[in-house]
Amino acid sequence: MSTRQGLVLTLLVLLAWAVTVAANPPAAAPPAHNPVQVEMQALQAAMQQSVAAIAAGDVRGLPKLLHAVHTAGGDTNKALDDGRYHPPQGKDQLETFRRLDHAFHAEMIKMVKAARKNDVATVAQQHGVLMSKCHACHAVFRHPPAAR
Ligand code: HEC
Repeated sequence: MSTRQGLVLTLLVLLAWAVTVAANPPAAAPPAHNPVQVEMQALQAAMQQSVAAIAAGDVRGLPKLLHAVHTAGGDTNKALDDGRYHPPQGKDQLETFRRLDHAFHAEMIKMVKAARKNDVATVAQQHGVLMSKCHACHAVFRHPPAAR
């Protein structure tokens, strides 16, 4: 193959790649509509990034991400207090919702404290503790997944 043919081939491959990327942009998070959805999207992003940080052995960037979840959690509490927000299910169990939410944030604070010290082992352990609590709350308060 001549240099010129090689160049044309490279350009074609690049073009095909560009067309594929343009047709399939990376999935964006769905728009958040209420304080809990805002909090949950921040939480999910923080948990996903925690996996990479734990793998890299450097978790010092996590407190900032988790703090954003915490701040969003404050908005959730206010919205619950003044009746602007009810979870999609379990509306008659708001005290249980608050208890689960409170317990979750307490475990998250342990993760933040460990992350500040770059204590990767404790952060990984707390990541597991937090991940084990998502479903317990969702099972009662979130809409069940759509049928397949
Ligand atoms: C204390 C209860 C509670 C805990 C703990 C909890 N969630 Fe949620 N989550 C909810 C509720 C309620 C909704 C539904 C919000 C709505 O649609 O109003 C929800 C919705 C979500 C959504 C969808 C948000 C959207 O934009 O519709 C994601 C993503 C999510 N949770 C991730 C997580 C992850 C990951 C964890 C654990 C690391 C977790 N949640 C722990 C209560 C909880």
